[in-house]
Amino acid sequence: MMKRIGLVTSGGDAPGMNAAIRAVTRVAISQGLEVLGFEKGWEGLLTNTFRQLTRRNVGGILHLGGTILRTSRSPEFMKREGVRKAAETLALNNVEGLVVVGGDGSMRGALELSRKTDALIVGVPATIDNDVFGTSETIGFDSAVNTAITEIDKIRDTASSHDRIFIVEVMGRMRGFLALTIGLTVGAEVILVPEVEYPLDQIVRTLETNASAGKKSGIIVAAEGIGDTHKLMREIEEKAEVEVRLSVTGYAQRGGNPTARSRLLANLFGDKAVELLMNKQGNRMVALQEGKIASIKLEQVCSNEKQLDLSLMELAETLAT
Ligand code: F6P
Repeated sequence: MMKRIGLVTSGGDAPGMNAAIRAVTRVAISQGLEVLGFEKGWEGLLTNTFRQLTRRNVGGILHLGGTILRTSRSPEFMKREGVRKAAETLALNNVEGLVVVGGDGSMRGALELSRKTDALIVGVPATIDNDVFGTSETIGFDSAVNTAITEIDKIRDTASSHDRIFIVEVMGRMRGFLALTIGLTVGAEVILVPEVEYPLDQIVRTLETNASAGKKSGIIVAAEGIGDTHKLMREIEEKAEVEVRLSVTGYAQRGGNPTARSRLLANLFGDKAVELLMNKQGNRMVALQEGKIASIKLEQVCSNEKQLDLSLMELAETLAT
């Protein structure tokens, strides 16, 4: 019978991580487990820094952004020595299962660690980027989308008063899941993502077509990963002879109160993670698949790339004209 598990949040923070900490802790305790919360991501496992999580000390955090355990991006950990040290820390503290809450990098770390430890490892996908294979949604994604659309709705007001085009840069250095969903839900005239080439001429043509149909303002939602949005602003201004402004949503998208959807996912994922550990099923990640809570092997998560639904780009275009 398993007695003690560990919990760690790692990589970029995401709204709902605290809700996940609370859910894992309280479900685990209700199953008779002890929970150690490792501090500051993988660093806590490298330095053996943790605190015991109790029903009470995870109280009052459900609605808060960030992570009370804090987090880090720890390249050190990914080296063989780091993974070995983390495995030692788990053994030293008699930790028989570890829940890793984080994004794709954290799932890769979790997989590496699972190969070097007897402890069972379970991943909980949490990243605003929603770029983790095997789950249709990650904790924090919906919150980040909502933060951006609240801002962009306001930008829409000023854009139409001034007949201006706005480029709104949203997060997502590598992938366009955020930009696509945000673009679709704010009715963006153009959506730019790292996965799809959208030449300048085509952007200008879209804006000109809209202008000749009487639509003189517009929103271009651009993922951070598409490159220099300042340069793009100048290029569009020159070519399309329109006034263009740039607004960057930035790191505000990483914080703030999690939405109901992010909290719900955190609760359901947390519950499932403990269930897997109690059933001695390790080296898996909990996931949302076809609307149901499920799980998938970490190997599978890490050896596949989640695909952007390009049909949504077409739909966004149809809806915005
Ligand atoms: O992974 C979340 C994310 O916010 C990405 O959208 C962004 O590109 C990246 O993290 C920024 O990384 P950092 O927190 O290291 O600046």
